[in-house]
Amino acid sequence: MRIDILTLFPGMFDILGGTGIFQRAAEQGLVDIGIHNIRDYSHDKHHVVDDYPYGGGAGMLLKPEPIFEAVEAVRQAVQPPSDTPVILLTPQGCPFRQADAQRLAQHSHLILLCGHYEGVDERVRQHLVTEEISIGDYVLTGGELAAMVVTDAVVRLIPGVLGSEDSPQDDSHSDGLLEYPQYTRPADYRGWPVPEILLSGNHAQIARWRRQQALARTLQRRPDLLQTAELDAKDIQYIEELKSRPDEAE
Ligand code: 6GU
Repeated sequence: MRIDILTLFPGMFDILGGTGIFQRAAEQGLVDIGIHNIRDYSHDKHHVVDDYPYGGGAGMLLKPEPIFEAVEAVRQAVQPPSDTPVILLTPQGCPFRQADAQRLAQHSHLILLCGHYEGVDERVRQHLVTEEISIGDYVLTGGELAAMVVTDAVVRLIPGVLGSEDSPQDDSHSDGLLEYPQYTRPADYRGWPVPEILLSGNHAQIARWRRQQALARTLQRRPDLLQTAELDAKDIQYIEELKSRPDEAE
């Protein structure tokens, strides 16, 4: 997979290339991340990338020309042409979810455009960008950290990037529930024991306990997720039990 990131602050992405899983994925040829300075695509003497909004108002907007030219340049560098998503990172975007990471991981090429200032000229949104993503209900100074969040969530889903191929399936959110609690040795730490069932060797009971823990944790922390999670009749019955004795849910 190739990911091209268009930004006014390319230096912010230095940490992406030089660390553990990313570095290994790049060395293995599983992912190729290109960082491009939008300013390089501005042709005037001072490499201006922003301008005042028509109609007045506070702040500056990113001009359309350098962004269009940057996207066209990185698109042309990829052969054969693909249906590359052009993603604008902006607090106005749709909330980024695990399902989006899974969908984007199916593409061979992504273009991430980091928004800045008060935003971008609307023609970029209408005629260049294919989707807009936000990473949460708070405002960052720019889309760079959001682009790194999206890149991380997508790259780790590429087969071979993580050590064991099946581990992304157990993640929190991949089946719509939060993950169950996990323990490692020692079996007793400072008088806090590991739940006995995990030491029992009874795999059917352990699976059932984990499922119930995941349901209880999700009900407690993210009840909204239960609306869209994949639940069977037993799950629904257990949730009803938890609701009737909420004090015992975790
Ligand atoms: Cl994608 N950009 C900015 N600037 N702020 C955000 C965001 C993105 N997602 C949440 N807040």
